[in-house]
Amino acid sequence: METDACTPINWAIDDLVQLLSQVDMGSILENFGRRTRTEDPVVHFYETFLGAYNAKLRKSRGVYYTRSPVVSFMMRSVDAILKDRFQLPLGLADNTKDPVTQKPRVQILDPATGTGTFLYEVVKQIYRNLEEMGMAHQWDSYVRDNLLHRLFGFELLMAPYSVAHLKLGWQLQELGYRFTNKQRLGIYLTNTLDEAMKKSEVLFGQYVAAEANEASEIKRDTPVMVVLGNPPYSGHSANESEWIAGLVQDYYYVDGKPLGEKNPKWLQDDYVKFIRFGQWRIEGTGCGLLAFVTNHGYLDNPTFRGMRQSLNKTFDEIYLLDLHGNSKKKEVSPNGYPDKNVFDIQQGVAVVIMVKYP
Ligand SMILES: C[S@@+](CC[C@H](N)C(=O)[O-])C[C@H]1O[C@@H](n2cnc3c(N)ncnc32)[C@H](O)[C@@H]1O
Repeated sequence: METDACTPINWAIDDLVQLLSQVDMGSILENFGRRTRTEDPVVHFYETFLGAYNAKLRKSRGVYYTRSPVVSFMMRSVDAILKDRFQLPLGLADNTKDPVTQKPRVQILDPATGTGTFLYEVVKQIYRNLEEMGMAHQWDSYVRDNLLHRLFGFELLMAPYSVAHLKLGWQLQELGYRFTNKQRLGIYLTNTLDEAMKKSEVLFGQYVAAEANEASEIKRDTPVMVVLGNPPYSGHSANESEWIAGLVQDYYYVDGKPLGEKNPKWLQDDYVKFIRFGQWRIEGTGCGLLAFVTNHGYLDNPTFRGMRQSLNKTFDEIYLLDLHGNSKKKEVSPNGYPDKNVFDIQQGVAVVIMVKYP
């Protein structure tokens, strides 16, 4: 997208973004047929789709679909922490406003949203919470007044971005929401790791520009309290933005002194940059939760001790679940079974939930 040679593609992208932002979601979704309320409608499509995807792009951008049990576990944990530790009885469904800013407290962002698997699970959890409180019959007005403006996703690639719009739109409707014209979901086509831009710096077509402006505003000004997802892992990061590189510099120091590592290149991995992004966002908000499933390299590798110290300083509580599965380590499960990865990748993975209290 950076070169002139891509200009025709920009038009196509602009067209699609315009379409999605103006489309009458309600009538499109009617044609998708009816399914059960808990089934993720595009999982099978996306799995197949990824198999045939541009293999190089898939690897460089870390496009891997997240298994539903992992997402569900993370979501229930975040919800429980919001209820128990932040005293928000409705958890993810909480729609109260901050008394000072008058903005909703529980604003949620998946900064690498892919096909929206995490946001889909967020909506499921919210619906469950409302059901438990006997409020599910208010779904239509709840979504319009209390949900759409609290739920955000950022995605870099067109295909998963489009799927995420359809998937979430369909889900909300299946649960009883009626879309009205000009209503859109908060899923944006943007590079999360680029600095939030001012309007004049946006070069692409009109609708992509509007999309980028709104995404920038969310990145910069919205007090997001919950950052969650499955960011890409790529040791050879394709994200060269100076802004995020500057933030990651904090991880090159421990006790105020340089790490002194000969080869600290693993600190440039995309997942490290996304953790830094989430940490930056929660620091800006002043409190919140960061819940990611990522490469587990940062848990014990000495190169990451500056990163561990920095996270320790920002967050009050850090919950870690090492899922192992590193094919290079050749570990064996305690019961003697092979140590399998939850994804189809070689690096071991870990779930982390970091909490910062007000
Ligand atoms: C591991 S996948 C997450 C998949 C998602 N949780 C799902 O199950 O569909 C990472 C996603 O991040 C996107 N991504 C990679 N770099 C990005 C960036 N700089 N900004 C926004 N999204 C990015 C990829 O295109 C991919 O869809």
